[in-house]
Amino acid sequence: MKDLSIGVIGSGMQGYAIGSSLAQAGFTLMFAARDLEALKRKVADLPRAKVATPLATAQFADVIILALPYSAFEALAPTLLPSLQGKLVLDATNTDPSNPEIIEQDQGNVARYSQQLLPGVKYVRAFSSVDFYQIVDSYQRGGINPLAIPIASDNSLALEQAKALISALHAEPVATSLEQAVKFQRGGVAFRVHTTGKKMRELLGVK
Ligand SMILES: NC(=O)c1ccc[n+]([C@@H]2O[C@H](COP(=O)([O-])OP(=O)(O)OC[C@H]3O[C@@H](n4cnc5c(N)ncnc54)[C@H](OP(=O)(O)O)[C@@H]3O)[C@@H](O)[C@H]2O)c1
Repeated sequence: MKDLSIGVIGSGMQGYAIGSSLAQAGFTLMFAARDLEALKRKVADLPRAKVATPLATAQFADVIILALPYSAFEALAPTLLPSLQGKLVLDATNTDPSNPEIIEQDQGNVARYSQQLLPGVKYVRAFSSVDFYQIVDSYQRGGINPLAIPIASDNSLALEQAKALISALHAEPVATSLEQAVKFQRGGVAFRVHTTGKKMRELLGVK
């Protein structure tokens, strides 16, 4: 798994927390944002980390983590899409509570709405419901009291790959279907719940 390169598009609180932990875990990282000079300074001390535009990052990486404001995700999706074909994409983006229009589409299922912006990718909703510092803390605990991270996809291979990546972060993936991802989106029972795998499985109703 560590031979995979990881691209993080949106390298603020959430993207940097995930990406810097993966860099420490031994993965090769490429980070993208708008201000690349500031980003170069931010990642300077990380091992095997580069900085590039969102498009160059989508072209380079085997696995992409999206951690953008939702409006930026929607705006960038058509440009990135050709480079993302067939790749694992982990979507951490949340809709803006001040923009309820998206939430009203697809029966209010943000994951399904987001997946439809990315046809042809191995789409997994992941990291969207856990706070950035909880991811860093869990990684640093090194496997003691791992943070449960809910993930959702209708692609079983994508789910298996996402589980392996999350395990490398010393966190515990808890998988469900895209249909059930509403349970961990904003307003759902498992949104911003930082707990054990056992408790998360109960909340999501999975084994
Ligand atoms: N913070 C959390 O704990 C947390 C937890 C779960 C999910 N999330 C979700 O993760 C996403 C990011 O949240 P955040 O808290 O990390 O936000 P943030 O700290 O404001 O970071 C946003 C990042 O996106 C980049 N960006 C914004 N517009 C862009 C564009 N048009 N093109 C390329 N890059 C762009 C920014 O780059 P510049 O700095 O160069 O502008 C920055 O690196 C949101 O959807 C949020 O709901 C966050």
